[in-house]
Amino acid sequence: MFIITGATGQLGRKIVQNLLQIVSAERIAVSVRDPAKADDLAMAGVRVRPGNYDDAASLRHAWEGAKRLLLVSSNASAHGGDPLAHHATAISVAQDLGVERLFYTSQIASSSTSLFPPARTHAATEQMLAKSGLAWTAMRHGFYADSALAMNARGFASGSLVAPADGKVSWTTHDDLAAADAMLLAGNELFDGPTPALTGFEALDLADLADIAQTILGKPVARHLLGDDAMISSAEASGAPPDRIEIMMGYYRAARAGEFAQVDPTLARLLGRRPQLMDDFMAERLS
Ligand SMILES: NC(=O)c1ccc[n+]([C@@H]2O[C@H](COP(=O)([O-])OP(=O)(O)OC[C@H]3O[C@@H](n4cnc5c(N)ncnc54)[C@H](OP(=O)(O)O)[C@@H]3O)[C@@H](O)[C@H]2O)c1
Repeated sequence: MFIITGATGQLGRKIVQNLLQIVSAERIAVSVRDPAKADDLAMAGVRVRPGNYDDAASLRHAWEGAKRLLLVSSNASAHGGDPLAHHATAISVAQDLGVERLFYTSQIASSSTSLFPPARTHAATEQMLAKSGLAWTAMRHGFYADSALAMNARGFASGSLVAPADGKVSWTTHDDLAAADAMLLAGNELFDGPTPALTGFEALDLADLADIAQTILGKPVARHLLGDDAMISSAEASGAPPDRIEIMMGYYRAARAGEFAQVDPTLARLLGRRPQLMDDFMAERLS
């Protein structure tokens, strides 16, 4: 049985949709917080069971019969929670169930010394997997192209992209990553441990994104630099919690250090085509 968690989220749902093109529905099960949000998958013949990373018993039930398990990384840090505790629970349940291989959605900057807090969580999770005795694959995803839009939505709308100094990022779309993840989960190719960085074809900074947005939107979009301290003060004044500010500032610091800049051909090779370019992705989403 192939098990996929987070299947009501953006990435997990697309992974299931891709896997359905490769293996039959009765071999696929999803583990979701709210089964009502996965009615369409149940209709397609996929087994849907409730599973919450906070509740090991629910995962044990949802993952019954698991051979190959794809664990979508927890987004708990965005809500003040502890993603590492979630991953520890998931790994422990996978050990109990004798899962043959666990696939984990890691990130390009995964490192214990990363300036980006979530990348340190990914590294710690990879360490837990290495010590678990499980066979495992960590898909080191490029930074989501979607995040480029979410982080800069106000700037694109106002025509003024105000942010601290950044660096080049090899933005990568959910569609491309989900297609590759489904192939790896299905066993088309084996990576033992971390994959090479799975990235888009180009690395772009905020000034590049402003130029692209300007062309698409047909209006001036300018990039303005803001000091780190001014950015922190502005976030504090708007009521952002300290851990959110830490993640946000970690992004700029890590980007400046080149942590998200690597462009690697592995994703293109797996897909058999060029990953989607930011011009095309932004044209789809901004226009
Ligand atoms: N590579 C990158 O650049 C990047 C950027 C941002 C995030 N990420 C990571 O990639 C992951 C997937 O991204 P995404 O875009 O698919 O995010 P998403 O749409 O927010 O999906 C997250 C999924 O995790 C599920 N979830 C949250 N808490 C859970 C819990 N306690 N137990 C079980 N499931 C839980 C959510 O369930 P519900 O549907 O019930 O909410 C949702 O299905 C994120 O969770 C985050 O760790 C990576």
